Parts: sequence; C-alpha cells; structure tokens
Amino acid sequence: MNVLYPQASSPSSTVPINLQDRSYKIAIGGALFDNPLTYSELPGTSSALIVSNTTVAPLYAQRLQTALQGKYPNIHTVTLPDGEEFKTWQTLNLIFDTLLQNGCDRKTVLFALGGGVVGDMTGFAAASYMRGVPFVQVPTTLLAQVDSSVGGKTGINHPLGKNMIGAFYQPLKVVCDLATLQTLPQRELSAGLAEVIKYGPIADLEFMTWIEARIDALMARDPAALAHAVKRSCEIKAWVVGQDEREAGLRAILNFGHTFGHAIEAGLGYGQWLHGEAVGCGMVMAAHLSHRLGRVDAALVQRLTVLIQKAGLPVTGPRLSRADNAGRYLELMRVDKKAEGGEIRFVVIDGPARAAVRSAPDALVREVIDLCCASA
Ligand code: NAD
Ligand code: GLY
Repeated sequence: MNVLYPQASSPSSTVPINLQDRSYKIAIGGALFDNPLTYSELPGTSSALIVSNTTVAPLYAQRLQTALQGKYPNIHTVTLPDGEEFKTWQTLNLIFDTLLQNGCDRKTVLFALGGGVVGDMTGFAAASYMRGVPFVQVPTTLLAQVDSSVGGKTGINHPLGKNMIGAFYQPLKVVCDLATLQTLPQRELSAGLAEVIKYGPIADLEFMTWIEARIDALMARDPAALAHAVKRSCEIKAWVVGQDEREAGLRAILNFGHTFGHAIEAGLGYGQWLHGEAVGCGMVMAAHLSHRLGRVDAALVQRLTVLIQKAGLPVTGPRLSRADNAGRYLELMRVDKKAEGGEIRFVVIDGPARAAVRSAPDALVREVIDLCCASA
C-alpha cells in the first residue's frame, strides 16, 4: 500500500486543545507514531507501558516500541483481548497487573495504541493507577482519531450501561497517524465516519456539505480527504471540550445520536453492532425526533439519512424486543448519563448547525422508534 502522507518532518497539522494546565496537542499526519521526534517533548522517565490489543499489537506495537526506546529504558507491553465486550473490569485489571508486576512507578507513561476501546481503558487505568500517571493516546481507528482519543473521557462498560464507570482524565498528547487507517477493516472505517458526520449537523453545516461532496473519497481512504476530516473533527471537538471539559452543558452536544445508539448497543449486547454503527442509526432517530419537536425541517433529516447510508452505515434500527420494542428502547435509554430523575434527555438538532439537550414526551419518542425500526 503506497500512500503518500506528509512526513513527520514536514509541517503536519497540529490542533491545540486549551485546558489551562491540562492543555495538549493533537498531532495529525503520516509516519508519525513510529518517529521518535513525535515524542520528543514528553517527559523522559524510566518506564513506559504500551497497551494494545490482539489485533493492533501485531501490526504496530513493535514499531512504537522502537520509536520509544531512546526515551524510556524500560518499555513494557500488555496485549488485551479485542472487542467492546472486553471493555470490562476484568480486562482493566490486566493493565494494573502488568504495571504492578513490573514495579511501575508514578512516573510511568502509558501509551494507548489502538481504537477507542483500548484508549478508553488505558485512560481509565492511567487515571486510577497510583491515583494518576501520565498517558498518551495513539489512536489507530478513524473513530478514535476524530473523537474518543480527544477530550479525556475514559472508562469501561457495566452490564447495565455503557461507559458507566470512568473518569475525566486528559492525555499528554494525541498522535493521529493517518497511515494506520489503511489497515482498518471497511466496516470500522464506516463506523468512524459516523462520528465525523456527527460534527456537521451539531456545529458546522459547511463541513457537512464538504463530507457530502467527499464521501466516496473518504470511503476509498483518500489521504487528503482523511487528513481534512480528522483535522476538522478534532478542531470542533477541541473547541467544545475547551469550553466545557466536564460536560456541565455544551459538551453534551457531542452525544448527538448516542442516546438511541447506546440503547442499541446495550439492547443487542455489546459488540453486535459497532459503536459507530449504533451512533449512525441513532443520529437518524435523533434527527426525526428533532423534526417532530419542530426544531428542524424534514429536508435536513433526509440529507443526514442519505449521508449516513452512503457512509455504509445502517439507518434502520434493530428490534430490541418482540413484544414492546419501543418500551425496551425507553427502558434502556433511562440508563443514560444525561438522564435526570429518570427523565431521558436527548441531543436534538436545534436549528442550522446548532444542537441542544431536550426531553420529549414518551409518546413522541415511541413514534420515532416505530418509524425508524425494522417491523416485527
Ligand atoms: P475499537 O477500539 O473496538 O476498534 C475497532 C476494531 O478495529 C477493533 O477490532 C480493533 O482491534 C481494530 N483496529 C484498531 N485499529 C486498527 C488498525 N489500524 N488496523 C486494523 N484494525 C484495527 O472501536 P472504536 O470504534 O475505535 O472505538 C469504539 C469505542 O470508543 C467504544 O467503546 C466507545 O464507547 C468509545 N468512545 C469513546 C469516546 C470518548 O470520548 N472517550 C468517544 C466515542 C467513542
Ligand atoms: N464523545 C463524546 C464526548 O467526548 O463528549
């Protein structure tokens, strides 16, 4: 695969994320993750731990280890099982086991090499090991590069709810090496595009128009198209997180489509639908809800549905119960971090490139679910 990305020595792009003493940079480009210069400004300490999984480690862990060798005399690795269903306490413990068995101290730097599952778990391990050690995100999926590696949300799933246990904890740096996206399965690329598309209706309609024009190039992994998609997504996310790091308000808009999406993931069992697939379909549902609440016209709902479909994502929701499908969705959506006093709160499109968090009558939500789900 010969793809000519800008080299690390050329001015690859950097997106700053401004959070006072927790500020950091997102480096975006090609040939970045295995270049020692990428890590030159990080604190030098005696040890580092590379956390990866059984799919990503054979592809990239050795190259990362070689790049870090000059900086860290002791580099340990831990390889986790691969899959959303392993985003659990038991898997998290494998990271703690490795840290303790190797006598890792408070200055040990953790490197998360993989997609959002590895990134979220490594971040949570970093937040809690010895009450906090530094970590670096090296995201290797599109979804992780445009969303999960940025902004410091870390955590694991609970059988009763997704990402229910976790912490806000910022990395020292995010390294988005676009070349790693070339080995990503097509289904995973599509899942990442869901989170790219998300930024359009909530924050930047010009970006949505750009994605519509470049969707075939993105699906074909055109390097320039991917570089722009990652950069613009990171800029929007950095702008939101810079204003509301701990989701007191504004940051919730990044969960557009996620309330329906999390119900799909939990209802089917984690790992059946990919997170991005559930979010893609969830955005269609949330757009219909926005329309029924009178906040957006039908044309935007249609535009978004077509774009999500062109990105190779499902736009029809799965049935989660044979008896009362909408009731099951509602039950699952009540276990959501945005819910208040048992009332579900949805991120809706609230005008052109504007989103808001609102509640909606159950009857209206039921109508949307009936409209958007496969029939019995
Ligand atoms: P993932 O981490 O499961 O990765 C997807 C698959 O791709 C895995 O099988 C992985 O091993 C494989 N893979 C990764 N990089 C590869 C590469 N370069 N080549 C080949 N295969 C590769 O899934 P994801 O979509 O990256 O992340 C989803 C997770 O992120 C969910 O758990 C979700 O809750 C979380 N998330 C977190 C945030 C946040 O703000 N922290 C935001 C969005 C999503
Ligand atoms: N992915 C949602 C957030 O980071 O807030």
